[in-house]
Amino acid sequence: MRRVAVNLLKEGDILANPVKSPSGSILLAKGTRITQNIKNKLPQLGIAFVYIEDSTLPYLSIHEIISEDNLSEAIKTIKKRSLISIIIDGVQRHTRENLDLDRLNSIVNNIIDELMDHKLILSSFAELKLLDNYTYQHSINVCIYSLIIGHSLKFTRTQLFQLGLGALLHDIGKTKIPISIINKPGILSVDEYEKVIAHTILGFELIKKAGKIPLLSAHVALQHHERLMGSGYPRKLKGDAIHPFGYIVGIADMFDALTAEKPYRPRFSIKDTIEILESSGGNLFPQEYIEKFLQTVILYPLGYKVKLNNGEVGVVIGQGKNPLTPIIKVIKGEFYQILDLEEYPQLFIEEVVYE
Ligand SMILES: [Fe+2]
Repeated sequence: MRRVAVNLLKEGDILANPVKSPSGSILLAKGTRITQNIKNKLPQLGIAFVYIEDSTLPYLSIHEIISEDNLSEAIKTIKKRSLISIIIDGVQRHTRENLDLDRLNSIVNNIIDELMDHKLILSSFAELKLLDNYTYQHSINVCIYSLIIGHSLKFTRTQLFQLGLGALLHDIGKTKIPISIINKPGILSVDEYEKVIAHTILGFELIKKAGKIPLLSAHVALQHHERLMGSGYPRKLKGDAIHPFGYIVGIADMFDALTAEKPYRPRFSIKDTIEILESSGGNLFPQEYIEKFLQTVILYPLGYKVKLNNGEVGVVIGQGKNPLTPIIKVIKGEFYQILDLEEYPQLFIEEVVYE
């Protein structure tokens, strides 16, 4: 069995698991043979991935599998204007600080221009999208959080450009490792784990090969899994040997990865993710970078629908001092109640309601 992005399905593929709607009802039974009609319908139903039977898992990367036509189609879907606005909107929505919008605009413009100007990088970025829409979206989120942290650390324009570009490309090396490993739902063998580790080095080499991209951005791809006390990979660097960009992108990566659903586990709640991040201070990451993240990144932006531990559902309408305790409006029939969660220590947000 392997997980495959819907756009890579072929006619005749057999479903290894039932396909369920977001509400849990079965849309297609296990054993269903994929037809062109089904393939066209799945994206409309909000389904990005399915599991298919595969006795001979391809030991090939997306780079080796996709045709030139598919790749040029995917490149066309990456639109400069929309990428820029997704990143700028994301930064605005998630930052607690006042932004100079003109400055941010010009930095993000430069980052996307750099992406679009390098054919090799742009095609790898498109491959990332074909490979796994999650990794593509994740790369954009990591760029957003990294820019917010970098801004609060008073980084220069050049630093923000190098950091943001590196964050956007941090997992680009995944396009060079076998699909069967990236999409594997079970535990990885030692050999497979080594291949996963290699995405850092492969990303570094790919960015360097593209030419004229700042070396620091390439180092973000190389270092984003290195950890403070030397428990990371690929070089087991420690302390100051890891560049601040490596730590910043590492934290952004960990936050976004844990709060996302993976084939092998459900998503962690934001509250649990923050507990994990806090406990990693001084161990996986320097304490000051974790604090910076918590002080500057809005975890529950305005408009998020959230469920409290008492079962009530509300909408975020303001931010408190503590990132975990925003101000929410709870609807109770015809009435509503404004709750500043900071004042109700017994209440906490259990989960974000994604609809
Ligand atoms: Fe990574």
